[in-house]
Amino acid sequence: MPATTEEYARPATPPDTSSLAEVREAARECTACHLYKRATQTVFGEGPKDAPIMLVGEQPGDYEDVAGKPFVGPAGKIMDRALEEAGIDRKEVYVTNAVKHFKWEPRGKRRIHQKPNSREIAACRPWLEAELRLVKPKLLVCLGATAAQAIFGPSFRVTRERGKVLSSKFAPRVLATVHPSSLLRQPDEQSREREYKRFVVDLRAALKATGEGIEI
Ligand code: URA
Repeated sequence: MPATTEEYARPATPPDTSSLAEVREAARECTACHLYKRATQTVFGEGPKDAPIMLVGEQPGDYEDVAGKPFVGPAGKIMDRALEEAGIDRKEVYVTNAVKHFKWEPRGKRRIHQKPNSREIAACRPWLEAELRLVKPKLLVCLGATAAQAIFGPSFRVTRERGKVLSSKFAPRVLATVHPSSLLRQPDEQSREREYKRFVVDLRAALKATGEGIEI
């Protein structure tokens, strides 16, 4: 693995099809930006095609890169617990990321997460748009700033808009909240518990905004 990779980004070109499986298959070969070079594989979204809620995170992490599935590592575990507490069955929601390759830098033997930049997010957005076009969720939940800015642009602030039901050209209803990994970074148990509860409140608001019961 070279220490540096040639950096480039152009918009991905998903096939014009009504088959999510075909879009997923095409995404496996994506080379629209340089991130594919260091990633193990494309981590495409997962969940039912008729899911009423779509959750979008930032990008796959170390665990997801290896497993080929979104939100299966520590952030995914805390998200699953919060979803359950909010009355949302993960099996009934579609879970994906704004960027579909793991961006990382080597540090010794470890792979350290790097935030995707706006060019990488823009290059990957056609995949997210294709997922939104085919799944047509009633509500899109943006988990953290990267996801929210992929939908609303770089001036969007989660701190200001958190928990509100908004709309965008990508989905009729969009709710932004924090990324579950921010809960893991809280300095002490008390703030972790407080922020976790706020996250569950946002997810309950998301469920209410779909206007239908998908409770467990
Ligand atoms: N963080 C994300 O944003 N997405 C994942 O899939 C895992 C961690």
